[in-house]
Amino acid sequence: MHSRTLLITGGAGFIGSHVLRLFVNKYPQYRIINLDALTYAGNLENLRDLEQAPNYAFVKADIRDAAAMAKIFAEHLPDGVIHLAAESHVDRSISNPMAFVETNVTGTVNLLNAAREAWKGKFEGKRFYHVSTDEVYGSLHDGGFFLETTPYDPQSPYSASKAASDHFVRAYGNTYGLPFVVSNCSNNYGSHQFPEKLIPLMIHNLREGKPLPVYGKGENVRDWLWVEDHARAIDLIFHQGVNGETYNIGGHNEWKNIDLVHLLCSIMDRKLGRASGTSAKQITFVTDRAGHDLRYAIDAGKIGRELGWKPGITFEAGLERTVDWYLANDPWLQAVTSGAYRDYYAAQYGKQG
Ligand code: NAD
Ligand code: DAU
Repeated sequence: MHSRTLLITGGAGFIGSHVLRLFVNKYPQYRIINLDALTYAGNLENLRDLEQAPNYAFVKADIRDAAAMAKIFAEHLPDGVIHLAAESHVDRSISNPMAFVETNVTGTVNLLNAAREAWKGKFEGKRFYHVSTDEVYGSLHDGGFFLETTPYDPQSPYSASKAASDHFVRAYGNTYGLPFVVSNCSNNYGSHQFPEKLIPLMIHNLREGKPLPVYGKGENVRDWLWVEDHARAIDLIFHQGVNGETYNIGGHNEWKNIDLVHLLCSIMDRKLGRASGTSAKQITFVTDRAGHDLRYAIDAGKIGRELGWKPGITFEAGLERTVDWYLANDPWLQAVTSGAYRDYYAAQYGKQG
């Protein structure tokens, strides 16, 4: 008999697969349902090792489908939700913003409605955990860090859709008493990340000898966090976070894109037995992302003070492990970079990349 039922959305994606691995292994007493539509970004290969676990089940469903959400809640009666399913790539949001409204905004409201309906005002022991991003706070230009109290100022269709979904979660808490927590995290990196994102894209192109497309001058700054450290933070917040609260999660690990790409080049020179400086010759500066946010940086003081969380490994160690994983898992990369990925790549980078 399971002590509780958790519904985790987006579990076949990058961060979701790490969250599922942590929860399924750590909480054998829970029944854990992975709800995912398996879009281009969702891959059940990411979860092969969990398939036979007695406390794990997969449900293929689309959060844009309100009736399907109501049915799943009625059937499985989850008492906890960890909501990660989303359209997550900024460049795709620039070329197709509606997809972000539909999944990130409407999809989240569909889940909130399903939870509200299923829980019928009996909120004891229930929790809706919404996983969000630091991009809702906008772009930093002159020092400082994002705090939980920083006003929202989203600048891309992606971050606007995530900000809207955060507002809906808080509005359901305020209006209907739905118990919720929200976390806003900085850029994640690690294994199983789809190679449209900076780090796996660069590793893939380095290996293939293709150009490394750096947007603009490469001056933009991101705060990188090891994905398993994010999963640990989600575990802590889900179990120990206070209802109605927001927690910022970040690595205190800021890198200019161009410096990060040079670091990756030097790691790849070593791993592939190339002479020092060889890989860096692949760097190509391309047209900047429209409305490109200059800098993100999280102040993760609250989660440190209140829940005792801090990042577990250094960037150098995490990056080394990440590169090793991609080099050892070429069939995974080949599978996800065939077909639709090639069309996306041609449309995004054209002759430049
Ligand atoms: P991802 O793109 O790798 O995975 C998203 C998952 O959601 C996929 O498995 C996909 O199939 C699923 N999905 C998409 N649309 C769906 C729909 N309509 N119905 C059901 N499932 C659907 O994303 P990720 O990078 O793992 O991000 C997960 C969450 O964390 C997102 O909410 C994102 O906004 C947030 N986040 C990501 C980062 C990051 O650096 N990647 C940082 C902070 C927050
Ligand atoms: O900050 C959290 C966010 O981080 C998450 O909410 C998003 O889901 C996630 O995609 C990520 O957004 P970014 O836009 O910061 O990540 P991305 O990997 O796309 O880009 C990182 C930086 O690298 C950014 O400044 C743009 C730049 N870049 C990216 C790509 C794909 C390039 O220079 N060249 C590229 O080809």
